[in-house]
Amino acid sequence: MTTVELKDVVKTFSSPKGKIIAVNNLSFQAKEGEVLGILGPNGAGKTTTLRMIATIYKPDRGTIRVEGIDVLENPLDVRKRIAYMPQEPDLIPFLSVEEHITYYLRFRGFSKKEAEKRCEEALRSFNLEKHRSKKPFQLSTGLKRRVQLASILSAEVPVIFLDEPTTGLDPMSKRNTWELIKDKIEDSGATILLTSHDLYEVEYLADRVIIINNGRLIAEGTPRDLRKRFGKSVKVVFEDPLIFDALREELMDVDGIKGIFQVSENAVEIKLDSLDRSINNLVRILASKELKIKDILTTAANFEDVYLEIIGNSGGDI
Ligand SMILES: Nc1ncnc2c1ncn2[C@@H]1O[C@H](COP(=O)(O)OP(=O)(O)OP(=O)(O)O)[C@@H](O)[C@H]1O
Ligand SMILES: [Mg+2]
Repeated sequence: MTTVELKDVVKTFSSPKGKIIAVNNLSFQAKEGEVLGILGPNGAGKTTTLRMIATIYKPDRGTIRVEGIDVLENPLDVRKRIAYMPQEPDLIPFLSVEEHITYYLRFRGFSKKEAEKRCEEALRSFNLEKHRSKKPFQLSTGLKRRVQLASILSAEVPVIFLDEPTTGLDPMSKRNTWELIKDKIEDSGATILLTSHDLYEVEYLADRVIIINNGRLIAEGTPRDLRKRFGKSVKVVFEDPLIFDALREELMDVDGIKGIFQVSENAVEIKLDSLDRSINNLVRILASKELKIKDILTTAANFEDVYLEIIGNSGGDI
């Protein structure tokens, strides 16, 4: 079932320099229970998109539905179903950790007793018991993030937005946060929209990814699909040293070959459009040469290479 649905959504802002099109005809869906990663460079429109789904901003055009409910027609009903962890930690300065979680739950409509009970559970399962009386200024960034996650999760809402949940965390806290997201939030069956600049994080957590640039959708798929579709390369190792320039000259014009680089005196790496199609062309040409091939290795590009290639192809600045 589709939980979040955007159709032809446009959002513009006015600025002293003129109109900014932050989101430009964006359409995508998130299915129930999936973690959807939203990637894109700074200013791509990720936060604006989340804010529109969360009813903080109104779209100029297009439709947004959460569990079938239109954000413009019924914003209050949408709000009941979502929890939003903003890009900047938003803890209230004078509330302690336990007060924050309890107040958050009260604000979400739980009775005092239920809020307190849920808060105790959250303090326990998020390992926050010894920090319960601390105020935000006494907490590290990682702990602040954990308090936000604990609050959001305790409310048991079906749709959760995590806007760069691990930015600014050290590698250890990052991993802890990933495990919390994996164990506790995924288990809750909630649909999660996750933005991040950490490609490893997205690949680890997201079931599916959309990539946005200049407010537009430029790619969509599972991290695995995207890796398969983009950034393929083949390493060819020859028996003998080769004359690189001559080989490059011949291969550069071949359909599907995007680049060729020498990696050692007898090996080259060749970037291809599509592994299935282009590898045949490549093998055919190499076979017609005098060169003796020792080995052909296909190397999967890492997800970051793939991301950079997709953004690069879309004509965006990085
Ligand atoms: N309230 C606002 N008023 C004016 N312009 C805005 C506002 N919010 C966002 N923008 C502009 O809209 C564009 C998209 O911004 P947005 O914050 O959605 O990007 P982002 O993808 O979340 O970037 P980042 O990765 O840096 O968080 C940017 O050009 C930004 O300057
Ligand atoms: Mg943002």
